[in-house]
Amino acid sequence: SAAEHTGHAPATGSAAGGGRPAAGLGVLFSQRLPIPQQLTPMRRGDGVDVYKIPIKAAQHAFLPGKPAPVRSFGGQFVGPTIRAKTGTPVEVTFTNQLDVPSNVHLHGGHNAQADDGHPMDLLDPGQSRTYHYPNRQQGATLWYHDHAHHLEAENVYRGLHGFYILDDEAERGLNLPSGQYDVPIMLRDIQLDANGAMVYPNFPPDRTTILVNGVVNPYFQVAARKYRFRLLNTSNERQFRLTLGGVQMTQIASDGGLLPAPVPRSEILLGSAERVDIVVDFSQVPLGSHLVLKDISGPLLRFDVTRLAVDSSRVPATLRPLPAPGTATVQREITMRFDETNFTGLVNEQVYDPNRVDITVKRGATEIWTVRNTDTVFGAPHSFHLHLEQFRVLDRNGGPPGPDDVGRKDTVFLGPGEWVRVQTTFTDYVGRYVYHCHFLDHSTLGMMAQMEIVP
Ligand code: C2O
Ligand code: CU
Repeated sequence: SAAEHTGHAPATGSAAGGGRPAAGLGVLFSQRLPIPQQLTPMRRGDGVDVYKIPIKAAQHAFLPGKPAPVRSFGGQFVGPTIRAKTGTPVEVTFTNQLDVPSNVHLHGGHNAQADDGHPMDLLDPGQSRTYHYPNRQQGATLWYHDHAHHLEAENVYRGLHGFYILDDEAERGLNLPSGQYDVPIMLRDIQLDANGAMVYPNFPPDRTTILVNGVVNPYFQVAARKYRFRLLNTSNERQFRLTLGGVQMTQIASDGGLLPAPVPRSEILLGSAERVDIVVDFSQVPLGSHLVLKDISGPLLRFDVTRLAVDSSRVPATLRPLPAPGTATVQREITMRFDETNFTGLVNEQVYDPNRVDITVKRGATEIWTVRNTDTVFGAPHSFHLHLEQFRVLDRNGGPPGPDDVGRKDTVFLGPGEWVRVQTTFTDYVGRYVYHCHFLDHSTLGMMAQMEIVP
């Protein structure tokens, strides 16, 4: 609504400096938005960026002054950000200092099976492991997270998630907002107790507190210029419906990188594990304005436009053309459903078995998969994620793709009864990779399957 960007108190609360408690958990917009720490690589002589990240127990304050235990990458609840460049390989050595198994999957990454974080390829307590990421893929907002068999829901819920941002030359040449004006924002839900500690296990409907980069309802002081925000949803099973008080969000990228052209959005549906990069131009509103990023569940983050700044960045009318889709030679049907009678998740009516290969794919093949959420009885939504390759959504429910289906995708949201057709080319790697519902509570319960790509 117009009032939200005129400097008047928005309906949600505290623009005038006061603020009302959010569900008894603190005060709206009383703390600054934390920006996840960006790691500095050790550069090896052979041009590889090297990182070391412990997986360890840590303390994190979701609410001001209330530190509580979490599982973390590098001691931080939102793990440290890795910034990589297309063409420059990265090696990350993770050491599991937890007392439970873990492992690491680079979500959206195009990597060999040994580096993909297959659910059975674990780091037991005390073990170290070096993952090799060649970064032979275009710029994109990726993220890394735990993927240990039957533990991924709990491990990710407890904090094993971080950004991995890949930049490429061509994208840099576009002069999009960069540096301090390129800000990763991780959204997710959680259930907190009266002491500000996370509750787990729990029921998804009780995860009513929303974290923005790990804290509740922060504010972010911005300059009156363009910013790029990389929005990522790491909730186990929540989708966000985001608005910005009527101010335009210009979408420039989805999961797999830049769109062919910017798309103006007034509302964005962001399912579990999906990414949307937007540009917001705060010079459109008067200095002193407060803009609230809202979900249907309530306010998330307040932007305070506090200062002027020069801005030579731009959003060009053409970003990056999508590759011409190949000709598909194989069609498959995938169904996803939750079996409430015995609490299992099913893909094509089967519980995940890591020893079973569900699909054999020929390297180089282009395939069209019809993916259906067949949960019409209980009405559970799902979210389909494919490892290794990006896909394109050809259509949704027999009609054109939705506004959230654009560009290169690796995860797609499916409401109950919905179906999409997605097209993928399996370009080069061979081996076993999983595809699954990215509601991690569901994948943990078996809503996962395995393909083997063969020469
Ligand atoms: Cu983001 Cu198989 O995962
Ligand atoms: Cu699901």
